[in-house]
Amino acid sequence: MSRKKISLIGGGQIGQILALISAQKELGDVVILDIPDFEGPVQGKALDLMEMRPLEGLDVNIKGTSNYADIADSDVIIITAGVPRKPGMSRDDLLDINLKIISHVAENVKKYAPNAFVIVVSNPLDAIVYAFYKVSGFAKNKIIGMAGALDSSRFKAFIAMETGYSTQDVSCLVLGGHGDTMVPLTRLATVGGVPVAELLDAETLAAIEKRTRMAGGEIVKLLGNGSAFFSPAQSAIEMAESFLMDKKRIIPCAGLCEGEYGINGLFIGVPCVIGAGGIEKIIEVELNDDEKAALKVTADHVAAVVAETKL
Ligand code: APR
Repeated sequence: MSRKKISLIGGGQIGQILALISAQKELGDVVILDIPDFEGPVQGKALDLMEMRPLEGLDVNIKGTSNYADIADSDVIIITAGVPRKPGMSRDDLLDINLKIISHVAENVKKYAPNAFVIVVSNPLDAIVYAFYKVSGFAKNKIIGMAGALDSSRFKAFIAMETGYSTQDVSCLVLGGHGDTMVPLTRLATVGGVPVAELLDAETLAAIEKRTRMAGGEIVKLLGNGSAFFSPAQSAIEMAESFLMDKKRIIPCAGLCEGEYGINGLFIGVPCVIGAGGIEKIIEVELNDDEKAALKVTADHVAAVVAETKL
């Protein structure tokens, strides 16, 4: 069996962590592609990783480039190309600039790696993944946005921090757009199978929900320059791994809804089964009236940002 190939479009903060984790997990050979002005830095990062490999006995190759021909035959492409937020900015403020970038990236991915499973990370996520889909013409099962995996990990982290119990035992789900209107489903959250409402009081749970919705901004403010990179990278890797190993994990991701949850034609956070076929299924969870109303608010917000793409 030949080695898999993972291409990372964008070799900045998230891209370099993606390269590190991909190499450490030996997911496959790694290509880090950035703009020509950044070719030297991504070649430097790739060489640094090549020289790290003997320390852990890793046998995958890592290459930095600005030449799209190098992504040919990729199994997985993870796109972080674009600019991140600065303090005071919302993800939506990035639309104009990142839309231009994703259009260029989509044309090239379509040309050089038309069979890849594509994971988009660039913000505003739900609109940028939609733009990739429209420009590339990729099948809907081969294009997915990374957001819910991260939002759910943040939700899990806060539950673990408040209860003091293991992160390993927390299970939960965040639906909706990757923005302040996202919908953490507290009703379904459990720790070791125990409903979280039996472990934490309503006030604490409400605070956790709010912190989850604002978690990206909390980090942007603390960093002062740029946005989160460790947890977004690990989230995208989790999705790539489920595809590469045909694990069929259920991970909340931005998948194209065509009637699911009453949503049509939008990429938005929903539980996706990820296996060798890409998005193999979107699972529909029974929601109560409050949750349905909250999902409608977030879907309307995503629709408004998507409309601005004029695609
Ligand atoms: N093609 C390839 N790479 C590009 C392009 C392009 N057309 N345009 C920009 N890039 C590169 C930049 O040169 C930079 O190296 O994308 C990289 C982005 O890296 P960072 O600025 O460090 O941003 P990062 O923190 O990695 O976030 C990337 O993910 O979470 C989102 O909001 C975040 O949209 C942002 C993206």
